[in-house]
Amino acid sequence: MPSNAHSVRQKLLAWYRKNARDLPWRHTRDPYKIWVSEIMLQQTQVQTVIPYYKRWLTRFPTLASLADAPLDEVMKYWAGLGYYRRVKMLHAAAKFVRQELAGKIPADPEGLLKIPGIGRYTAGAIASIAFQKPVPLVDGNVIRILTRLYAIKKDVGRTDTLKAIWDFAAGLVPDQHAGDFNQAMMELGAILCLPNNPACLVCPVSSECKARALGHPEKFPVKLQKEKLQKLNTAALILKNPRNEVLIGQQPHAARWGGLWMFPFGASLQEVAGRFKIQQLPDAHCLEIKHGFTKYSIRLSVFEARLPAKSAQKLALPGHRWTPISRLDQFAFPSPHKKIADYLAEKN
Ligand code: ADE
Repeated sequence: MPSNAHSVRQKLLAWYRKNARDLPWRHTRDPYKIWVSEIMLQQTQVQTVIPYYKRWLTRFPTLASLADAPLDEVMKYWAGLGYYRRVKMLHAAAKFVRQELAGKIPADPEGLLKIPGIGRYTAGAIASIAFQKPVPLVDGNVIRILTRLYAIKKDVGRTDTLKAIWDFAAGLVPDQHAGDFNQAMMELGAILCLPNNPACLVCPVSSECKARALGHPEKFPVKLQKEKLQKLNTAALILKNPRNEVLIGQQPHAARWGGLWMFPFGASLQEVAGRFKIQQLPDAHCLEIKHGFTKYSIRLSVFEARLPAKSAQKLALPGHRWTPISRLDQFAFPSPHKKIADYLAEKN
């Protein structure tokens, strides 16, 4: 246990009680609701998550209601949040808990870790926030706080550095109010101890902070240079038949974005047009969408083509359907394709 643990706990908890943001998941101890919030908050910003979280709990207020719902519908409530593996795992996990654990979410990290899709962070979050277990958690914010508080200069991309950070977190977490303490660390990272311009002057633990004593807190955490994002160009097609319907296809479940609906897309206009047997390449370039995916920075160019009834009929491909633009909102699209659907709805 770090020698200043007592002081860090007191100061952080007091600060959190006064300054915590009022977020919807902070009004509950229901482990299912905490779980949903923590999965949504992985890789997604708080402000984006809030409306999704509220809508989700209106439709799936309990673990049983989620386990009972078809995946297609569940995906719709996630569409736009990205990283869709999370929602598939969450849905599978809800079924697992109901079948294998009699519907009861375990209170300890050991039990939680047996649930598919729950890793060390989520187990720590549910156990500490919902069940008040004195167990640690480490996410990006906590890494920043702890590498600064203790001036940990090792590369945080390394497993042994992360292990040391988990050990610091375990040494700090108090027996009482562990959930509040863990959230206080994340909260400090989210609102004061920012990556580039930490607000040390108003930080409750600045006097405990070794990185500040060294004079350059923003140099922590130390990360070895990452590869640059690779640029990738892709193309999508809005194919319209004479009834003004557009063609969309559902991705096979095993594929990336499996289960979601998409417009025909491919590596280039030529490639996708060839695959969909479009004789004449459309020259109407109607939309340009930029999005990021893992190590790629992707530019999606969208083209529109009108097909005569006969050609449209030939495109009766498995998993695809012609859909009126007014019904596009009933399908779950990944973010970039949702933008195409929104563009069409607006134009319609
Ligand atoms: N980020 C993820 N979960 C959080 C929580 N419970 N409080 C603050 N930030 C978070």
